[in-house]
Amino acid sequence: MDHTNRSRAEAWLRYADDLHLGPFYRDRVGQPITESAPTETVSLPAAASASRPDPGPASARKPAAGFVPQVTGPSLFEERIEGDTLDRIRTDIGPNCTRCKLHKSRTNIVFGVGNPKAQLVFVGEGPGHDEDVQGEPFVGRAGKLLTQMIEAMGLRREDIYICNVVKCRPPENRLPERDEIATCSPYLLRQLGVIRPKVICCLGACSAQTLLETNQGISRFRGEWFDWRGAKLIATYHPAYLLRNPNAKGEVWKDLQKVMAVLGLQPRRR
Ligand code: URA
Repeated sequence: MDHTNRSRAEAWLRYADDLHLGPFYRDRVGQPITESAPTETVSLPAAASASRPDPGPASARKPAAGFVPQVTGPSLFEERIEGDTLDRIRTDIGPNCTRCKLHKSRTNIVFGVGNPKAQLVFVGEGPGHDEDVQGEPFVGRAGKLLTQMIEAMGLRREDIYICNVVKCRPPENRLPERDEIATCSPYLLRQLGVIRPKVICCLGACSAQTLLETNQGISRFRGEWFDWRGAKLIATYHPAYLLRNPNAKGEVWKDLQKVMAVLGLQPRRR
């Protein structure tokens, strides 16, 4: 199957998944998360495609029966690399990383920014144009909206940590591909292992599917809490999706309020 047809087929499978049209293709996708799911193997999403899909549909749905919100991997608190630091991870990536094909078109590696002891980490998918130019995550239009969301929660960008699944910009803003995610996500896992946040908030399907090791559409589990290696993980729609679908802002605000409740935060007074 050529690249275009493969992307179309994958987009259809994701759409069918969102519509709960299983199980005719169910054996083609990764295992839904269950208590007995293997924990040592990272099964990355098979749904890598050439163009960015909408990171979430307009309507939220309840998780499917049997979908247990728990990921039991090595605990962030027990299995972290001895002596690991954000600086060491940055050094390990190096200033001129060529481990995947994204290096060919990037300007800057976008490592991550914020408080290394943050209680809350937002994880996006990968840098866009502005981030690639400035070397900092979420500084473009979607980033400005994310900053507003953070401030509405009564926080400042410097209180939290922001990073992405892949550290280099996918060309033409396409979704990161499976091999790129496989190469780069170990650095994300190390970042989370060093920071050891109380809450991880995945922005959009790519980061949620990567960390939860699932191909389920984000609408199946958006707003649900997961126990992720000792941290609490919640997925919500990507700010870029909200720019195109402002009506979904209310759903995202509900998700952020859940995060605020866990962190004991009060909304910013206007
Ligand atoms: N979108 C992302 O997922 N990450 C960024 O850093 C910017 C836009």
